[in-house]
Amino acid sequence: MIIAIDGPAASGKGTLARRVAAAMNYAYLDTGLLYRATGAKVLALGGDPDDVDMAVMAAEKLQPEDLENDDLRREDVGNAASRVAAIPKVRAVLLDFQRHLAKNPPGGKHGAVLDGRDIGTVVCPEAPIKFFLTASVAERANRRFKQLQEKNPAVIYERVLNELEERDARDSARDVAPLKMADNAIHIDTDRLNADAVFNAVMAHIRTHMGEDD
Ligand code: DC
Repeated sequence: MIIAIDGPAASGKGTLARRVAAAMNYAYLDTGLLYRATGAKVLALGGDPDDVDMAVMAAEKLQPEDLENDDLRREDVGNAASRVAAIPKVRAVLLDFQRHLAKNPPGGKHGAVLDGRDIGTVVCPEAPIKFFLTASVAERANRRFKQLQEKNPAVIYERVLNELEERDARDSARDVAPLKMADNAIHIDTDRLNADAVFNAVMAHIRTHMGEDD
């Protein structure tokens, strides 16, 4: 069983996907981490995330421990991730890993939850359950701003908003696997829903689907 959760930056898909995976006892893969780790590797080498050769090399050399770096959550790394993610060869390198995990969840689990931008459209188009989360850019910037402010009180709202708009534009406009809702995905607009309400709605859909399959 594969559950795909896609959506733009800061739409709450990570928190949701982790909770769904725990509730179902499924494996969880945050696919954004693969792009973040690739972008972080390029930055650590003093490179430019738009440099195709360097980004491809960084993706090919990724090791599991690269995904455990706390710095991956930084905004500059998110930006670098969005840049390397626009390079088709980088996406091709990371695709096999994602598909393999989806089809062979580690730890003997019976399913996997993957979150990202193109899970329902490209990585696992066959996934029987797909969700697409959205929220207005103002609401997403607000949520991200509050998160960042806990660590750094000097963070500026307008900057957070501008960076999100930039990433939305890049992630949606790229030629390969752009952010796009799969035709058969369930769309959830989270603007007026808190994390618990989104989780409950998603779990209700999953239970209905599993019941129908029985
Ligand atoms: O979900 P996130 O913010 O951690 O993702 C970081 C960047 O990685 C995002 O701006 C675009 C890219 N990404 C992608 O292109 N495809 C995915 N499946 C996941 C992330």
